[in-house]
Amino acid sequence: MKPPAQIHTARLLLRKPRVSDARAVFEGYATDPEVTRYLIWPAHRSITETRDFLRRAQVMWKDGTEFTWAMTLSPDTTLIGMLALRITGCRIDFGYVCAKKFWNQGYTSEAVSAVVKWAMGEPGIYRIGAVCDTENSASMRVLEKAGLRYEGILHRWSVFPALGPVPRDCFSYALLK
Ligand SMILES: CC(C)(COP(=O)(O)OP(=O)(O)OC[C@H]1O[C@@H](n2cnc3c(N)ncnc32)[C@H](O)[C@@H]1OP(=O)(O)O)[C@@H](O)C(=O)NCCC(=O)NCCS
Repeated sequence: MKPPAQIHTARLLLRKPRVSDARAVFEGYATDPEVTRYLIWPAHRSITETRDFLRRAQVMWKDGTEFTWAMTLSPDTTLIGMLALRITGCRIDFGYVCAKKFWNQGYTSEAVSAVVKWAMGEPGIYRIGAVCDTENSASMRVLEKAGLRYEGILHRWSVFPALGPVPRDCFSYALLK
């Protein structure tokens, strides 16, 4: 199963990432320590890293290991972040990031809600879920607004490189069919 290459929402177009997005990603959020604080990847140090990431994202769309969309404003096309999902049998897991300049305007919730709607419409999918650091309140709110329910705590679940090498506790959220 592959998700749609494009998803339209009221204010956004989710589309496949391109290598030509590198500058927007690099300057928009990938180097920002506040944005990368609760992410599983470290802030990019060079635009080459960003280009490599975008190339990997394209390969993963093709081989089906991960599906990443660029979140872009519509109709003006500004890239504001990314949303990525993995499909494992009847389950989907996803993550997201938004450039600070665009925080708290409901954009990520709008994108996540659209992806959740698509996922729940797929007959073979019974669960869509995400995890976030127990201190990442904005991310919890995004998941709640998209209709996911708090499930519990996953101790020592994930390393967030910006916060050190020790795995941290995460909250699990999901929507079930
Ligand atoms: C998490 C993130 C993607 C949210 O993006 P966004 O586009 O600002 O999200 P939205 O505007 O749709 O919703 C954010 C909600 O969190 C709330 N919020 C923001 N900061 C908050 C904080 N420090 N404490 C509590 N709530 C907070 C906002 O008020 C809003 O809720 P509301 O609509 O009920 O007022 C963005 O903050 C981000 O990119 N963070 C860094 C990367 C990250 O943590 N990704 C998720 C990894 S699990």
